[in-house]
Amino acid sequence: MKLTQSFGALLFAAAALAQNVIITLPTEGQSVTAGSNITVDVERPEQLTGFDQVALIISMTSCASGACLPMAEGLDIILYNGAFNPVEPNPNPAHQQPNQNFTVAIPAALQKGEALIGVTQIALVSASLALWVEYQNVTVNVV
Ligand SMILES: *[C@@H]1O[C@H](CO)[C@@H](O)[C@H](O)[C@H]1NC(C)=O
Ligand SMILES: *[C@@H]1O[C@H](CO)[C@@H](O)[C@H](O)[C@H]1NC(C)=O
Ligand SMILES: *[C@@H]1O[C@H](CO)[C@@H](O)[C@H](O)[C@H]1NC(C)=O
Repeated sequence: MKLTQSFGALLFAAAALAQNVIITLPTEGQSVTAGSNITVDVERPEQLTGFDQVALIISMTSCASGACLPMAEGLDIILYNGAFNPVEPNPNPAHQQPNQNFTVAIPAALQKGEALIGVTQIALVSASLALWVEYQNVTVNVV
């Protein structure tokens, strides 16, 4: 029983690692204009069976007047909340991993300066029906 449990935990950790998403756009330090639309490109290197995508949330918070709170303590402004269906571009001359481009609006009233764009991935591990949450972020410069 104990053995099975720890093996399960190991599989879970491995699955979780393989499922990590990568924010490829915007790039770290990129300038974004308040009130404009930008593309957020989220890549998911591998699709594992037994891992059911529930939702993806793209959020934003200003860090202009201090350090940004950890995402787990609050996402602040939600720019997108919905399905995540990454696909390989077609044609795919650059051999990109499956990804999805989201067009999101940077709030016009957002404070200028450093801000954090966050991506939260929520999935369900079907074997154990455990909820799995992953946070990724990129720092941008609001102009
Ligand atoms: C941003 O995108 C939305 C939806 O596509 C569009 O209605 C809006 O005009 C765009 N805003 C700007 C500033 O381009
Ligand atoms: C952003 O991601 C980095 C690297 O994973 C992490 O160290 C940092 O705590 C994250 N920031 C927030 C506000 O969650
Ligand atoms: C998303 O946009 C990037 C940058 O323009 C592009 O390289 C990529 O192929 C696009 N992804 C898809 C699935 O079309």
